[in-house]
Amino acid sequence: MKDDLYLTFALGKGRLSKKSMELLEQIGITCEEMKDPDSRKLIFVNEKQKVRFFLSKGPDVPTYVEYGAADLGVVGRDTILEENRNVYELLDLGFGKCRMCVCGPHDAKELLQHHERIRVASKYPDIAREYFYEHKHQTVDIIKLNGSVELGPIVGLADVIVDIVETGSTLRENGLEVLEEIAPLSARLIVNPVSMQLKGDRIRDLTVRLKAILDEEKKK
Ligand code: PRP
Repeated sequence: MKDDLYLTFALGKGRLSKKSMELLEQIGITCEEMKDPDSRKLIFVNEKQKVRFFLSKGPDVPTYVEYGAADLGVVGRDTILEENRNVYELLDLGFGKCRMCVCGPHDAKELLQHHERIRVASKYPDIAREYFYEHKHQTVDIIKLNGSVELGPIVGLADVIVDIVETGSTLRENGLEVLEEIAPLSARLIVNPVSMQLKGDRIRDLTVRLKAILDEEKKK
């Protein structure tokens, strides 16, 4: 399989990959074998259209794209900000909308006002560090967690968390709230800078067609 013949996409496993494929289908790029819900395969090829897809963990998508193992990737902006990889962002795909926020119990709002040294738990230590140190000029201790971050303030591990808020129900059901908003998030199409040179025509054509679909959707 000669690499330069194919356009390779790295997609985060799960909801983002499903949404990505739905969008690509609208511009005629398909991959039937990806639709089998029982499949454990990680690589899928459409020989006719010379495209291939692989499914990785979301945070690894920018890594595959930076090293050129994939030409393109679809990933949440949270991952782009946290991973800080050498990739270009081509398009905001509009789905997967949510917010990166500082959250905690209502009383913790006070702790964000006076540069107090507090403990911040997060799956996104770099985003948390950048926000508190560079933006708020507040020295904090950052504790990396791998999920269920809302537990942090409840069990006394941390004062606040930096996490994704989508519907807000996880916060509500655990007695927490949004204290400050850091950034809006959504899924983005990213590209390897060398692929952009070598396969520029194909990638630009795909981007223009995707953008037209997204602009149409916005009008609805
Ligand atoms: C994410 C995020 C919040 C939750 C927010 O967690 O970390 O916990 O979703 O969504 P909501 O505002 O709609 O409630 P995820 O489901 O990815 O699991 P995790 O806790 O294991 O990271």
